[in-house]
Amino acid sequence: MKAVIPAAGFGTRFLPIAKAVPKELLPLGNKPVIGHVVEEAVASGFEEILIILSRGKESIVRYFTPDPELERHLEACGKTDALESLRAVGRGARIHYTYQPRMMGLGDAVRLARDFVGRDEAFAVLLGDTVMHGSSPLPAMRGAWQAHRKSSVCIEPCPQDRVSRYGVAGGQQIGADLFDLDRLVEKPPADEAPRLTDSDGNPLPYHAFAARYLFAPDIFDFLDSASAGFGGEIQLTDAMEALRDRSGMLGVRWSGCRLDIGNPDGLLEAARTISGGR
Ligand code: G1P
Repeated sequence: MKAVIPAAGFGTRFLPIAKAVPKELLPLGNKPVIGHVVEEAVASGFEEILIILSRGKESIVRYFTPDPELERHLEACGKTDALESLRAVGRGARIHYTYQPRMMGLGDAVRLARDFVGRDEAFAVLLGDTVMHGSSPLPAMRGAWQAHRKSSVCIEPCPQDRVSRYGVAGGQQIGADLFDLDRLVEKPPADEAPRLTDSDGNPLPYHAFAARYLFAPDIFDFLDSASAGFGGEIQLTDAMEALRDRSGMLGVRWSGCRLDIGNPDGLLEAARTISGGR
């Protein structure tokens, strides 16, 4: 199956460093954030990968492109550990790239994957600034696709005072960690956020979208016709809401460890978690 990793945008929250180093290349352990994301995709069976870049992010391509001269040098010096770490970069993945000409939001970035994805198969979207530590929701999302033939979004509980930072899901529980969604809203004010209910109709805590998606190719129909939404950008969430209205959308609840590297505090926290400090 194919996967799309949006890694475009200015990285405003990481300025000034993001002016020279894409935030997706900031280190988490001995590899960059996007290295972890590609490994998660490959380990979950998504080997054909499209990374959506924007101007100034060419170093991401360089990171994943083999460097035979450096490899020969390391071989000649007998630096086998360094050589192995180099050869492990992107192992198992076939990585393609495209550029987002104008930064018009996540929905616009995913729209650029239309030709890469085609019309025949579902595909995953992994946000390039979020690492799933230890496990991935993608296998469960794939299972949901096989069982129900519906697109899905990974969801996790979110405190009420943070719902305005995320896409938020409403809907009903239909399985242990599976929900039939009936409302998807991007960054709603806390008092307008939708809620999930359990199978008896009791309200559950707020649940936010957690950086992993699995879509039927129909999502492109709605991305093409999407107009600017929250923040004046083309929002993926708005296209998801339209897709849900036509053919349904599932929420796959995940209780793993999500490391959000979208801001400097998140990166620090992630570094502590990875090094076992939490
Ligand atoms: C994006 C999505 C949002 C989602 C979040 C975390 O927001 O638009 O729906 O909840 O990622 O996965 P961003 O963090 O890019 O503002």
